[in-house]
Amino acid sequence: MAKTVAVIGAGVSGLTSIKACLEEGLEPTCFEQSSDIGGLWRFTEKVEEDRASIYNSVVTNSSKEMSCFSDFPMPDDFPNFLHNSKFLQYLRMYAAHFELLKYIRFKTKVICLEKNQDSSVPGQWILVAERDGKQESFIFDAAMICTGHQIEAYVPLASFPGIEKFKGTYLHSRNYKSPERFHEKTVVIVGMGNSAADIAVEICRKAKKVILSTRGGSWVMSRVADNGYPWDTIFHSRFADVTRNYLPWLFLQWMTEQKMNQWFDHENYGLVPRNRSLMKEPVFNDDLPSRILCGAVTVKPIVQEFTETSAVFEDGTVEEKVDAVIFATGYSVAFPFLEKSVIKVEDNRVPLYKHVFPPQLEKPTLAVIGLIQPLGPIMPTSELQARWATRVFKELSTLPSESIMVADTVKRSKKRIKWFGTSRSQSIQTNFIEYLDELAASFGAKPNLLWLLLKDPKLALTMFFGPCTPFQFRLVGPGKWAGARDAILTQKERIIKPTKTRVVDSSSCHTIFTFLKILSVLALFAAVFLSLVQH
Ligand SMILES: Cc1cc2nc3c(=O)[nH]c(=O)nc-3n(C[C@H](O)[C@H](O)[C@H](O)COP(=O)(O)OP(=O)(O)OC[C@H]3O[C@@H](n4cnc5c(N)ncnc54)[C@H](O)[C@@H]3O)c2cc1C
Ligand SMILES: *[C@@H]1O[C@H](CO)[C@@H](O)[C@H](O)[C@H]1NC(C)=O
Ligand SMILES: *[C@@H]1O[C@H](CO)[C@@H](O)[C@H](O)[C@H]1NC(C)=O
Repeated sequence: MAKTVAVIGAGVSGLTSIKACLEEGLEPTCFEQSSDIGGLWRFTEKVEEDRASIYNSVVTNSSKEMSCFSDFPMPDDFPNFLHNSKFLQYLRMYAAHFELLKYIRFKTKVICLEKNQDSSVPGQWILVAERDGKQESFIFDAAMICTGHQIEAYVPLASFPGIEKFKGTYLHSRNYKSPERFHEKTVVIVGMGNSAADIAVEICRKAKKVILSTRGGSWVMSRVADNGYPWDTIFHSRFADVTRNYLPWLFLQWMTEQKMNQWFDHENYGLVPRNRSLMKEPVFNDDLPSRILCGAVTVKPIVQEFTETSAVFEDGTVEEKVDAVIFATGYSVAFPFLEKSVIKVEDNRVPLYKHVFPPQLEKPTLAVIGLIQPLGPIMPTSELQARWATRVFKELSTLPSESIMVADTVKRSKKRIKWFGTSRSQSIQTNFIEYLDELAASFGAKPNLLWLLLKDPKLALTMFFGPCTPFQFRLVGPGKWAGARDAILTQKERIIKPTKTRVVDSSSCHTIFTFLKILSVLALFAAVFLSLVQH
């Protein structure tokens, strides 16, 4: 049975992995190559070689009640979407509260992780770490890789002939920090993810002209959803999830399109995704449609080639006198320190069992945490992965045979392609609630809603119709937390508190609405019951 665990990286995934080890009585040692915690969320002016790099204005696209760890709600006065510095503050609070810092070796970079072949104990790992130019090697019973997947910039330069002749500047979004240097410039931004849209919207306030060049387009959503609630607190409810799973596929697609086009017609704005049949991860940007409407950002197809001074687009149009090009074209997954045979990355795809375990190991003592895009926040996802992985290390949960695991990764990949398509950027996309439930179920932390409906109906209804917040996975099983029920029942207050900062009279014509509300709750009650019985 494993006892000592190496945790590589001290970002979101690394911190929660240390915590999971401690919860299970394992002995974690965390290696972090930089001098501080936070990973991607610690903004610095200077780009560091082996750490994700963000621009100054990054604000979370998942809201605070959804993006916290399951036993550590965010302070009620934190805004719903957090500036990166505020999110880092939360991570610091988490690390301090659970006393995680003392397990971290800073400025220590892991340069090699390989199987310990000549040990009598199977499954052990040899880890070589470097600090101040000095190397030291260690032996661990298990290892958790928490190095993130936003380090290695991906720029398909080969698909942009002429870029080598281009006389202006070009850079990857990883090297973009703030808009000042683009004052009065003509800028082409290639890509249509969150970063591309953010950068376009930010630069266009300073630049002469901003062109957003996209091959595939994207759905653009607002962070603000129905009645002003954060989008994910509406989208990620169990009720909405059940509805999505039971609706016929074509109807669901039609409905999604209607919903997306309610705000603005994506066709008229040249943004409609090339392959509409997909639930490709949307872009969250409240300003983009308004910037396009005001003529500050122009949407164009992909660049076909560059000349010394201009960009030629696929539709034959040419933009002259381009000063800068920013490639917001994403990242490649890589494990530079890991023995190649352990995990094979092919076409940016990583075949891991339930996105965590390499299926071909003699013993499941290596876990990859946080290598996933869950269409929701990564924090509770990494956390559940880590809780499951540490149970597996301790042999309290077992994995199926290699062939079953391989078959599962194939099946999962097919399903992903149906929902999200084959695009490179979607290679690690998964559903959110379904995946969390699956992880939780494998070690007994999945809540039983039907049972709860009888025992604690108020809680059960909040859990079903309200946002699927991380606290739901601390109600039962190993690692259960006494504060979970209360955290669920008070989540709405924490959502409203930071916006309702002026006392207002509430309107009084409530009686008829209350009656209607009760009626609809009864109807929904029946619906829940039916759907749960079906499960
Ligand atoms: C612009 C942007 C916005 C985002 N917004 C959101 C959001 O709103 N919500 C959300 O859920 N997700 C968001 N994400 C996704 C983001 O990846 C996760 O939120 C989270 O940062 C992942 O944490 P991590 O710990 O897995 O990786 P990271 O935060 O990248 O941390 C990895 C750590 O590993 C260290 N490391 C790397 N290699 C080594 C080595 N060899 N040895 C030792 N240490 C090493 C690095 O220094 C780093 O500290 C966003 C991503 C980007 C790029
Ligand atoms: C938030 O933005 C990051 C960076 O573009 C992305 O990786 C992540 O998937 C986004 N989250 C959601 C829920 O769209
Ligand atoms: C759209 O995606 C689906 C599912 O991946 C695929 O079968 C179909 O061929 C794609 N259509 C186009 C036009 O790319």
